[in-house]
Amino acid sequence: MLRLLGRASAGAAGLVLVGCGGGDDGAGDLDAAAGDLDALILPDGATCSPTTSDVLGPFHRPGAPSRTMIADLTEAGERIALDGVVLGSDCTTPLAGAVLDVWQADATGAYHEPTAAGGPFRLRGQVASAADGTWAIDTIRPGHYRNGPGWRPAHIHFIVSAPGHRSLTTQLYFAGDQFLPPNDSCTSCGSDDPARIIPLSPRSGGGLAGEFRIVLGRA
Ligand SMILES: [Fe+2]
Repeated sequence: MLRLLGRASAGAAGLVLVGCGGGDDGAGDLDAAAGDLDALILPDGATCSPTTSDVLGPFHRPGAPSRTMIADLTEAGERIALDGVVLGSDCTTPLAGAVLDVWQADATGAYHEPTAAGGPFRLRGQVASAADGTWAIDTIRPGHYRNGPGWRPAHIHFIVSAPGHRSLTTQLYFAGDQFLPPNDSCTSCGSDDPARIIPLSPRSGGGLAGEFRIVLGRA
């Protein structure tokens, strides 16, 4: 799994890729101000390839506000702190100013229209990556929802764009979800890609934390 390590002194210029021994001890230390993280660890034997796409689905709405707190503190559900990085197609070069358009269901599996009760653009927001490509959001674990005769695994939708790179529409899933393949009712979805199924670990101070590495292909 990806680990974003430590406080940097070298900034983006110090970005390095090294082998991974596992563990998640750094996850709880990351926060929305993590613009000075300087090192990435890839899984052993990992090959460099762009993050795979997934279906857009019917619930994207353009124009979400810029904010890292996707779920207000009044939003019911288990809190999740997600951190990550956006990299260029070489899996090394951090992409500053990439825009992540994020949307998700609430804890009961319901999506909310931008004008629905509960506040505008509930559980929607746009986040820009920092100078070293890192980004962070604060949200809740989405619920499952019905899709035809079955259920979808919990997921968060992303559209990620950066100049000179192909826009990526994808979904992020969580390890251990009972509706991951072969139980995902969406047969056209890409919920079988291990690069987009992340573990969540307890976070100091409460809630859970996870990390998601995004690689964009060249335009
Ligand atoms: Fe969805």
